[in-house]
Amino acid sequence: MKERILVNCALPYANGPLHLGHIAGAYLGADIFVRFNRLNDKEVLFISGSDEYGTPITITAEKNNVSPQEIADKYNKEQYETFKDIDIIFDKFTRTTDPEHVKDVDEFFLNLYNKKYLEKRYMVSPFCKKLNKFMPDRYIEGECPYCGYKEARGDQCDNCGRTLDPIELINPVCKLSDEKPEFRVTEHFFLRLDLLQDKLMDYLNGKDFWKNNVLAFTKNFVNDGLRPRAITRDLDWGVKIPLDNYNDKRIYVWFEALIGYITGARTYSMEINKPDYWKDFYFDNKIKSYYFIGKDNIPFHTVIWPAMLIAHGNYNMPYNVPANEYLRFEGEQFSKSRGIGYTVNEMLKIIDKNSLRYYISSILPETGDSDFSLKEFQDKVNSELIDKYGNYIYRLESFIDKNKLNITKPEKLDDNDEDIINVLKSKFDDYKSELNNLHIKKGLSIWLEVAMMANNYFNESAPWKLIKVDKSKLNNKLFVSLKIAEYLTVMLYPYVPSAASAIWNTFTDNVKIEDKNFDSLLSVDNFNIKKGNPPFNKIDFSEYVNGK
Ligand code: MF3
Ligand code: ZN
Repeated sequence: MKERILVNCALPYANGPLHLGHIAGAYLGADIFVRFNRLNDKEVLFISGSDEYGTPITITAEKNNVSPQEIADKYNKEQYETFKDIDIIFDKFTRTTDPEHVKDVDEFFLNLYNKKYLEKRYMVSPFCKKLNKFMPDRYIEGECPYCGYKEARGDQCDNCGRTLDPIELINPVCKLSDEKPEFRVTEHFFLRLDLLQDKLMDYLNGKDFWKNNVLAFTKNFVNDGLRPRAITRDLDWGVKIPLDNYNDKRIYVWFEALIGYITGARTYSMEINKPDYWKDFYFDNKIKSYYFIGKDNIPFHTVIWPAMLIAHGNYNMPYNVPANEYLRFEGEQFSKSRGIGYTVNEMLKIIDKNSLRYYISSILPETGDSDFSLKEFQDKVNSELIDKYGNYIYRLESFIDKNKLNITKPEKLDDNDEDIINVLKSKFDDYKSELNNLHIKKGLSIWLEVAMMANNYFNESAPWKLIKVDKSKLNNKLFVSLKIAEYLTVMLYPYVPSAASAIWNTFTDNVKIEDKNFDSLLSVDNFNIKKGNPPFNKIDFSEYVNGK
């Protein structure tokens, strides 16, 4: 049986279009990792979905004068389509408003409640006298007590990333009324993180292989001390508390949305008529789980979610949480309100998905923030994807086609060619090990080294000379060139799947790249070359670069 892995990707809030920052922060890396693992003969379950409760949705609904459900419906559909348009395909894109999700949340809540990991307590909450109601943390803004950032929200500071309590804010105001909130007592359920501290530490101590940014963030969070945390709110948009007498309260979005990963896997299993399929991924401890998320989601996935899973008992813990840093746009922070940056849909109107995936893959903010620039986009795609790869394939295939050659596997390669094949194989091993270690950007840079090697080899072989003097040597050189093309195309596939699979089809009809297995693809030695058109069109962004 194939080794299995679970890949979960943060459930984006269904409150707006996906922008390039989302893609670079979590989704593209996840999709590449999934495609790579499938080629590498793993069975992968790939889950995401829409996060439809919480104040991000209600704020957008209020602005647009429609119900939260209408906003969620609209953007659930739109985001799903956008992911498809950029070749990010989940096995299941769930929704937290799915009634099946409520079942999972109820079960989780009651399980923790019965084990006394959830406890009723009183707390003070911001209350807006003008609106006469308790206000969600996120509706309160003020100065961050830790870093001094002026526009910190009551739940979190976007500048230093700390999670906050609104009462900690300096000079808090209610975003809807502009009034200073009062802090009043209200009853809520608390997750006893304090009781889970030791087990959580044991879990985290085994995680030295996590990315530095993730570890540092998590340790910071834990070292601040784990206190009980409220997981219900005074709201009417959210999952109801599965106990009597709490009709005007709801479960906090972060507690409930995380359980969406399970709902996604479970409902997918129902759809494929294997209702227990998901259980292996959550209870067979040989199965590793990966959570691809943006940096602002770290504490929820490395502390809260593990704590919930420990409290429930028996669930597999997240194996790795490869959170990325932020993508900036031409040196500035992406900002919808200030019109900085592009949404994915806007970008796809001016450039094809293959080029977009290539460029973003090459600048993934894996270890630090990175910058999206149209100029660099144009230069990289034109000089790397198109010149070093697309043109190589085109030159090679055109030569074979024009001269009506039938390239066969040589009985024996000369030493130089043997060396080239060995270098190719060792680069491929490096590529696999980088990707296994979640160094996705590095995998692509190894690909680029192979592409440069391909061009050098082809030029040095000078088949246009050999054809006049040595047909057997010509065959061997072209065979090795095709072999390099084959590796290049397979290695590119996780990053740029549509283009790679179209190019693969010009090599052979016998094996499909969708067979998704390195061994079967890379053992193809019988080429049946069909010269196509040049596979890519050069990018010219001058209109946009100068216009901005
Ligand atoms: N909706 C959150 C965000 O976009 C992510 C939630 S991840 C989940 O930041 F797993 F909790 F759903
Ligand atoms: Zn701060």
